[in-house]
Amino acid sequence: MGSRRNIALYVNEACSFEVRDDLGIPECGEKEILVQTVYSGVNPADVVHSLQLGIRSTVLGYDFSGKVVSSASNSKFKPGQFVAGYTPTSLGRPIKYGTHQDFLVCPEDMCFTVPDHIPMSHAAGLTTVAMTAADVVFNLFKLPLQSLHQTLAEHNNPGPFLIWGASTSVGICTLQFAKAIGCEPIFVTASASRHSELLELGASKCFDYASPTVVSDVKAAVRDMAKGNLRYALDAAGREPDSSVPSLLEQCVEDARTETACVIFRAGTRMPLAVRHMDVTFHLKGTPHPFVIPASPDDHWRAWEALHWAVTNYNRTFKLPWVRECSNNARDALEEVIAIATLGKGAGKVVIKHPLLMSEHAIDPL
Ligand SMILES: NC(=O)c1ccc[n+]([C@@H]2O[C@H](COP(=O)([O-])OP(=O)(O)OC[C@H]3O[C@@H](n4cnc5c(N)ncnc54)[C@H](OP(=O)(O)O)[C@@H]3O)[C@@H](O)[C@H]2O)c1
Repeated sequence: MGSRRNIALYVNEACSFEVRDDLGIPECGEKEILVQTVYSGVNPADVVHSLQLGIRSTVLGYDFSGKVVSSASNSKFKPGQFVAGYTPTSLGRPIKYGTHQDFLVCPEDMCFTVPDHIPMSHAAGLTTVAMTAADVVFNLFKLPLQSLHQTLAEHNNPGPFLIWGASTSVGICTLQFAKAIGCEPIFVTASASRHSELLELGASKCFDYASPTVVSDVKAAVRDMAKGNLRYALDAAGREPDSSVPSLLEQCVEDARTETACVIFRAGTRMPLAVRHMDVTFHLKGTPHPFVIPASPDDHWRAWEALHWAVTNYNRTFKLPWVRECSNNARDALEEVIAIATLGKGAGKVVIKHPLLMSEHAIDPL
């Protein structure tokens, strides 16, 4: 197994972020596996959940790829096998589930065997964003999962789709699911430097979300394409916190029947969730009590099937086009995790190579 030192990126109860090397090797519960982390994938949620939703006194991180160290004798995962996946979230989240540490624990039903055609760095960034996109497309919008397995000629076009912030990792996954099931046209917004890649991934037309005319440009394009009003619209960036004014996406929607969703809490629209097979409890900052998002197992396993399709078809009809490895110096990695929480710095999916190298400094609370 190599070194048994476990270095971790940790958030304490005061929301101060620090590097720890005193946590030891975590222990598995029932139907869980111990994994030596190869890469951990970074999400804005790693830090945002600590700041906004009360997930503290724990190791940061949800996504990973790694090598199985130990498993139950009847487990389908065997020591030495390469796996990837994600780990549970909820108030009081155990330290063992944080993925930004050199050894982590994962429930067996939240990981998959990494096939040879997926680099471990890419596998580490896939699960949370693909599950969130799948929840949008196949659960919130109720588009048919079986279409993933049909040919283009067999598709019944579900109708025009708009993805706001399509170069976020959630947006990229949504675009590729929508394309694979035959949605057409697909309008997307992103910075201009992303447009050519997004067109290759299946977008019909791209707009710069920073343009002062973006709303009227999108509306004109929907009219010019003459394929009907927008049927589906996802805000994959979730950037406009003031929900008392319509977001730019909402301003593009002219038909009350358009199905809308937003990746963060926003009044009047639905929010996807990456984990749906268990109740999830959060304590929203500034509110008196925690709240529970009840489990919705059918939705979860439908999204999991879409993830399986993405894994099987990786590098053919599905991929994360921009994956970047950051330094494995623990302090540098922690700074990167914090920076990614302020969406906008992103240039694709960032993954951290393990084992981490120890550094001694604490990072100030945000
Ligand atoms: N509900 C859930 O379960 C769940 C799960 C995962 C993520 N999320 C949320 O989904 C959002 C995206 O997460 P992610 O990991 O996919 O993000 P990401 O990959 O880190 O996204 C980075 C990209 O955001 C884009 N962006 C920044 N400001 C924007 C704006 N004003 N309008 C449109 N795009 C903008 C930039 O695109 P350009 O390069 O084109 O400028 C940047 O490249 C976050 O808010 C995250 O918290 C929710």
